[in-house]
Amino acid sequence: MSETNLVRLATEAGIGVITIDNPPVNALSPGVPEGIITALRAAEADPAIGAIVLIGAGRSFIAGADIRQFGTGRARLPLGSRVYDVLDACAKPVVAAIHGYALGGGLEIALACHYRIAVPSAKVGLPEVLIGILPGGGGTQRLPRLIGPRAALDMIVTGRHVPAPEARTLGILDAVLADGADLRAGAIAFAQSIAATRPLPRVRDRTDRLAEAREDPALFDTVRKSIARRARNQKAPYNCILAVEAACTLPMDAGLAREQELFAELENSDEARALRYAFFAEREAAKLPDLPAGIAPREIRTAAVIGAGTMGGGIAMSFADFGIPVRILDSTPEALARGMDRIRSNYATSVRRGSLAQEEMDRRLARIHPVAAYADLADADLVIEAVFEEMDVKRPVFRALDQVMKSGALIFSNTSALDIDALAAETGRPDDVAGTHFFSPANVMKLLEVVRGTQSSPETLVSAMALGRKIGKIPAMAGNTDGFVANRSRAPFNSEMVILLEEGCLPEQVDRVMVDFGYPMGPFAVGDLAGLDIGAADRRRRAAANPNYRTLPIADRLVELGRYGQKTGAGWYRYEKGDRTPHPDPEVARIIAETVARLGVAQKSFTDQEILHRLLFASVNEACRILEEGKAYRASDIDVMWLHGFGFPRYRGGLMFWADGIGVRAVHDQIAAWHQEHGERWAPARLLTDLAATGTPFREAKAAPMV
Ligand code: 3HC
Ligand code: NAI
Repeated sequence: MSETNLVRLATEAGIGVITIDNPPVNALSPGVPEGIITALRAAEADPAIGAIVLIGAGRSFIAGADIRQFGTGRARLPLGSRVYDVLDACAKPVVAAIHGYALGGGLEIALACHYRIAVPSAKVGLPEVLIGILPGGGGTQRLPRLIGPRAALDMIVTGRHVPAPEARTLGILDAVLADGADLRAGAIAFAQSIAATRPLPRVRDRTDRLAEAREDPALFDTVRKSIARRARNQKAPYNCILAVEAACTLPMDAGLAREQELFAELENSDEARALRYAFFAEREAAKLPDLPAGIAPREIRTAAVIGAGTMGGGIAMSFADFGIPVRILDSTPEALARGMDRIRSNYATSVRRGSLAQEEMDRRLARIHPVAAYADLADADLVIEAVFEEMDVKRPVFRALDQVMKSGALIFSNTSALDIDALAAETGRPDDVAGTHFFSPANVMKLLEVVRGTQSSPETLVSAMALGRKIGKIPAMAGNTDGFVANRSRAPFNSEMVILLEEGCLPEQVDRVMVDFGYPMGPFAVGDLAGLDIGAADRRRRAAANPNYRTLPIADRLVELGRYGQKTGAGWYRYEKGDRTPHPDPEVARIIAETVARLGVAQKSFTDQEILHRLLFASVNEACRILEEGKAYRASDIDVMWLHGFGFPRYRGGLMFWADGIGVRAVHDQIAAWHQEHGERWAPARLLTDLAATGTPFREAKAAPMV
């Protein structure tokens, strides 16, 4: 019997059971692959062992390579000495027994085993592409041999997690145990049943499924074309395709060598570094460093939403989508009925597009209950207010909630900018109040910005973060500041893009630069989608409150002319009836020229880089102010907000990670130069100046304690 901390071998009924025990997810950290190899050799040498089971302790089989090892030079071993290669050479049958996740190197180990069985809740996948690399443990060679190149490409290029029943159908799994069956016992019984089978079925020896590529020579180009838009500026998806292509044209060992070459091109690429950063930034955002450890979130079994408008409806859907019954209230029966209609129609669109089954739509709708009075909400564990963005409308709502909600209920607001403390002050329980700022469309966008009021209790904040995870969001914490963190850091970008028009740009030019950079849509096209009247109202409010507010006359003029965006058929672009495609509009060019002539602004031409930097540096500067004021915990939280709230290209890591790629000094010097040229709005933040002076990267910036 061999025993290490991370991997142990025990013998039971003639079967060697190798258990991987590296919490929390059994990643293949240093010591784990070595431990598996040692245990395999010991089991092979032990005459009392007829077959071997490989199983994970805790909540998963193996979640893959240890991502922290990539880029350190320690992630790769020579071919022939790796677990996968040792498994190939093993003389006794090995059964992978899968629960939780078998991802990346974890699935690759399972593919190098002779058999694979799983519990029904298990998921398998090769998600390497999502961190900018490719499966480097033989996955690109074995998976096409096992399930055919077409299905393998789908899994490897999307990185999706495949549920066990589908994996069984695809041929990845040899068996799925019955619901509730004991995996270890089932795997031992399975191993006993195949112990005498010879020759051993090795995936590497199979070639039958590869015929699919010969029958469809256009297969690889078709996949390349299908990802062209989504994968622009990226290399990993294309190297994944090349590696699967190699599986179809080269013998196994040459294919493995090709996989290694293609992997080596990616491991240290900018794209892989950015995606690894994003992976850990999302997990870091869940951590609230200044709250006492071990606070349990309150349980949320039922929810309520006030306001059945754009956001309230989307928030109710978010609950229903994750199995939480939700009641929804509006000020009039008509508004409530309109809201329910919109919810129904949104679900129906998903059914029409094939992304939701009709029965699932029915189940979700049945969880959303329109109600007529506050008293009907009283026993909900949580309520989210999403009424008009006006203090005078919100205040009475909070007073009413304070009167009816049961003790211990969480009371949240979806306001995008208003003072959470002022809302909390309307209640006798400000410690139960916080902001939960969803992004539109609320049932789709992943970001949940949790806003901390001065009196929000640690338990309330922990509960809001846990709620986000429970409904599939990525939560990140923000301080209570005008616009909170996401919108506040984005606001200078929004102004700067319109100021660029005063100086000589056109909307379509700015949009092209940002789409080339990696955004799914340009910011002007996004503005037309959201509605230009919303921004105009916000600007009027701010201008009234602040005499130095930088107005945006071109944007205001468009709204004056009734050009609100898509909903009026014209905004920054013009739209054909019933079509959302933006068409550049000579009328907009004329409005710009007219306004510019009136203002007397000098015109110039801009390079793509100037446009990009003008928009993003403005926001980097504001993000520094947010950190120095203690309104965010860390720069990486701001990155998470930009990735999941604004569609910032993930393979660039996030706003601040991207700015680090340019260098803190270069960013500072450019901002300082623009300060000279354009005036006060470009004054460098104190934190930016400090970081530049010491050469400290943005992502290591120390934020002030959160207030
Ligand atoms: N390496 C290092 N750490 C990992 C990890 C990995 N592969 N997977 C998870 N972790 C860490 C997380 O950072 C987190 O740490 P923290 O508690 O300190 O923040 C902890 O494990 C728990 O992770 P999650 O919070 O993500 O747990 P969930 O239960 O929500 O999700 C999961 C579990 C689906 C397994 C998710 O963690 C995940 O997707 N992990 C990454 C899977 C992956 O990409 N595997 C491929 C790796 S590359 C590879 O295998 C290369 C090979 O081809 C050679
Ligand atoms: P909306 O105008 O679409 O919906 C508001 C709903 O609230 C309407 O159905 C209205 O009838 C109802 N309502 C008004 N007063 C009420 C009251 N006293 N009691 C009950 N219901 C009442 O507005 P939208 O866009 O859904 O915004 C709601 C909140 O979400 C606002 O605070 C807004 O700032 C915020 N928000 C909006 C985003 C967006 O993109 N639209 C994004 C993030 C936050």
